[in-house]
Amino acid sequence: MEKINNILEICNLSIAYGPIKAVKEVNLEINHGEFVALIGANGAGKSSLLKSILGINKAEKGSIFFLGQDITRKPTDKIVSSGLSLIPEGHVIFSSMSVLENLQLGAYQNLADFEENLKRIFDYFPVLKDRSSQIAGTLSGGEQQMLSMGRALMSKPKLILVDEPSLGLAPKIVTDIFNILTELNKEGYAILLAEQNAKKALEGSHRCYVMKTGEIAMSGFSTDLIDDPKIRQAYLGGN
Ligand SMILES: Nc1ncnc2c1ncn2[C@@H]1O[C@H](COP(=O)(O)OP(=O)(O)OP(=O)(O)O)[C@@H](O)[C@H]1O
Ligand SMILES: [Mg+2]
Repeated sequence: MEKINNILEICNLSIAYGPIKAVKEVNLEINHGEFVALIGANGAGKSSLLKSILGINKAEKGSIFFLGQDITRKPTDKIVSSGLSLIPEGHVIFSSMSVLENLQLGAYQNLADFEENLKRIFDYFPVLKDRSSQIAGTLSGGEQQMLSMGRALMSKPKLILVDEPSLGLAPKIVTDIFNILTELNKEGYAILLAEQNAKKALEGSHRCYVMKTGEIAMSGFSTDLIDDPKIRQAYLGGN
């Protein structure tokens, strides 16, 4: 049997919203243990691509394989229970529930290891332990992003999809969040990170795909792309 090295493989994927073609014949691969970034401007198609991996957006054409299994047309709950988790754009939380209740919801498919998972999440994000009974809507923006990440990690995913975690947050919190992503990756989680903050994304990742109007315009090792004049000009403020 052929050995499968990648954890995720996307082949010729297209997504459309009626007449709007948001993702056009995209090919993308993530290997086990890899931290891969997806950079691109507003409207490039990053969120559409991430949502399609979870089955939230249905593929118009193409296929998505996770751990060698075709997940293209599977329902989202089946995809999540197979080991994929999305940390959505805009730190989405259940604002009238407590921090702990939000984390409990993240574990709805993995109740067996609840206490162990909760301890793990509290180790990553001590602030969530301190605030576990606080109503989530009263957390700061950075704390809400951490709660959103913690909730996604409660299902013990093998691959984490992270959509613009730095959006609207202060530089210090952005640094904290990138440090946590690096730590998670070192512990073995594969990561696909969509980001407009190209500098941070390139510094933190092993490889990077550049998305432009629905297409992959460029890809390569992040250390190479950081030095690429085209990337510097378009995404890193020149020079
Ligand atoms: N539900 C939808 N209905 C119609 N068009 C949509 C929908 N969602 C996204 N689009 C369009 O698809 C394109 C890609 O949007 P998408 O949200 O994937 O971009 P993005 O790269 O995540 O941008 P941003 O960095 O601003 O989050 C845009 O032109 C957007 O207007
Ligand atoms: Mg987006």
